[in-house]
Amino acid sequence: MALVPAKQILEEAQKKGYGIGAYNVNNMEQIQAIMAAARETQSPVIIQASRGALKYSNFTYLGYLMKAAVIENPDIPVAMHLDHGNSLESAIKAIGLGFSSVMIDGSLMEDSKTTSTYDYNVKVTHSVVEYAHARGVSVEAEIGTLGGLEDGVGSGKIHLTDPSEAKKFVDETGIDSLAIAIGTSHGAYKFKGAANLDFDVLKKIRGLINIPIVLHGASSVPKELIDEVNKYGGKIQGAAGVPMASLQEAIKLGVSKINVDTDGRLAITAAIRKVFTETPEKFDLRDYLGHARTALTNLIISKMKNFGSTGHAKDYAPKTLEDMKKEYVSK
Ligand code: G3H
Ligand code: 13P
Ligand code: ZN
Repeated sequence: MALVPAKQILEEAQKKGYGIGAYNVNNMEQIQAIMAAARETQSPVIIQASRGALKYSNFTYLGYLMKAAVIENPDIPVAMHLDHGNSLESAIKAIGLGFSSVMIDGSLMEDSKTTSTYDYNVKVTHSVVEYAHARGVSVEAEIGTLGGLEDGVGSGKIHLTDPSEAKKFVDETGIDSLAIAIGTSHGAYKFKGAANLDFDVLKKIRGLINIPIVLHGASSVPKELIDEVNKYGGKIQGAAGVPMASLQEAIKLGVSKINVDTDGRLAITAAIRKVFTETPEKFDLRDYLGHARTALTNLIISKMKNFGSTGHAKDYAPKTLEDMKKEYVSK
């Protein structure tokens, strides 16, 4: 089995200057598609589940499906990651399911009426770091806020990350990777006009901190996919994402983890709509979910190639959570 702490996958990527896609999963077909792409490209990979996805599957189902990805792919370094955890309790639950990495998103304030946003973020992040590191589990946290509302994820307002606050936050919390806000947002509607990322902020942050940097809201929302969805009866207007060239620039400037959910949803929706439209007589779910799985594999293969993670699966001996536990203790 190659369940690997995200810290190792991301530090290796940071050292060599490539990006690792972190792909959101909700069901078996998504997990299989991503793992097929990782095998095809020999790429390390992060599969991540949001709180909403875990709740939808009653936690255990998705947890075990993600474990199956690890068992079935012993030669691929895989991290199981909690996306947008919002409390110590959500981290404890994910770690109990066997996750090797958790995000604590302190912008999702649970009890912050009495403290400042920053103080709340440090406090809740620190509590997760203590719990997770004692078990060898990596921790991602966020400073600044992304826009976009998806099932309560994201604040709806963008506050770009303040580089000096980012440095202070990393020093005060001991996290393993930092999600920053440089103009992206969650979902399919990221920009009104041209895509606009603040690379100066990214450069400043990179100059101040050493740990891997994470970019949320990094779907490209390809026009071909939107057109395909709409061609088969969908109604998605005015969608816009982060162009691949901007993601590649971000990787060059020091981003190591690139979060992708929306593009996967679009690929799956387009494929299913196509089957329903072209062969309305079909009703075996393996037909349309099978097509969706293939479409998602192809999408992720292309992302892995563009992010530069291909061929890196065998670069290093995977660390176990026990190895990481010892490393954290000795620090
Ligand atoms: O970052 C947010 C992801 O797209 C997860 O979305 O909460 O709807 O599963 P979700
Ligand atoms: P997208 O909505 O751009 O795919 O972002 C997903 C994400 O950031 C998951 O945490
Ligand atoms: Zn996100």
